[in-house]
Amino acid sequence: MKFVRMPIEVESPEERGYSTIRYNLAESSVTDRPLSEFGLKLDDIVLAYADHRGLPQLRAEIAGDGGVAERDVLTTPGAAGALFFIATTLLQPDDHLVVVRPNYATNLETPRAIGCAIDLIDLRFEDGFALDLDRLRRAIRPNTRLVSLTTPHNPTGVCLSPAQLREAADIAAKAGCRLLVDETYRDMVFGTKPPLAATIGPHVLSVSSMSKAYGIPGIRVGWVVNTDPELMTGLLAAKEQIGICGSIIDETIAAAALAARRSFLPPLIERLRAARDTVEAWIQSEPGFEWVKPEGGCVCFPRIRRDVAVDIDRFYAVLDQEFGTAVGPGHWFEMDRRFLRVGFGWPTAAELAEGLKGLSGALKAARL
Ligand SMILES: Cc1ncc(COP(=O)(O)O)c(C=O)c1O
Repeated sequence: MKFVRMPIEVESPEERGYSTIRYNLAESSVTDRPLSEFGLKLDDIVLAYADHRGLPQLRAEIAGDGGVAERDVLTTPGAAGALFFIATTLLQPDDHLVVVRPNYATNLETPRAIGCAIDLIDLRFEDGFALDLDRLRRAIRPNTRLVSLTTPHNPTGVCLSPAQLREAADIAAKAGCRLLVDETYRDMVFGTKPPLAATIGPHVLSVSSMSKAYGIPGIRVGWVVNTDPELMTGLLAAKEQIGICGSIIDETIAAAALAARRSFLPPLIERLRAARDTVEAWIQSEPGFEWVKPEGGCVCFPRIRRDVAVDIDRFYAVLDQEFGTAVGPGHWFEMDRRFLRVGFGWPTAAELAEGLKGLSGALKAARL
């Protein structure tokens, strides 16, 4: 395999240094939380290897939330680890897969590193970033092994309806391939929480993690859910060969955070709704930008209107150097740099407001 570093990681806030950013709108998670919030006593944990599939109490929490059994859950080093295990377990260099773009970069890069042929389904702003299921159907080939979707979607916040997801699963089933649904943002929807995709059938894999809604990406706990025991054994083998098991400390923290989700998530969704309102009010007052309003997650993907003449490099330079504001530029997602991902779940309300002002100011300065 040939690995290439992804711009989204090379240029990430943690790699460039948080202290270099005043208004951080580049994050795709909610505000990071300190360990002290969980009131855990970790001193007595015996630092043994953990259960290879994941701590039983953590898998019970994940299974209970999705309506599956504990044996259907495998914990992984973040959702990123789950995506890696799935790609390397299911795909060979001669295989073909269908992936939606834009997307979280690992969904594209690991299959590329394996050497697979990929059909990209490019979402279009003009279609409200909606997935065209007929295009998906047409993209299937005899050697298609995997269809890879993300909902709620990063970076657009667009959600597939349960009916659309079921149709995508039918397309995959008819083609005899698997459907990977990256559901890392499933706990952050503004409407009804969708059912876990893996409950549709044994050919569907759900991936998620503690990083986004729970604001604890530093513990590196994610998981895959799937009801095909043979596939789960293959994924477990991949996990054992890479790291044997997860960190017992990380998984203990994850179990506690998930156990508290009933009290943690509702106020979080309200805070995200208010932050989304702030972005909406800004977009309405700012004629240079347009967006598709996100239905889930904590990011959106506005763009500078096509008819606005702008020096795009200057826009990002001014945004950074004069306004101290970071966003996710379009090239992180293999998109035109007029697009930018704005994370509204991580900054405080005041930081978000200042960052949005920075976007307006940078556009003004970079107009031609
Ligand atoms: C859609 C999606 N999947 C997976 C990940 C990886 O997250 P983690 O490995 O921190 O769980 C991300 C992170 O941005 C993401 O947005």
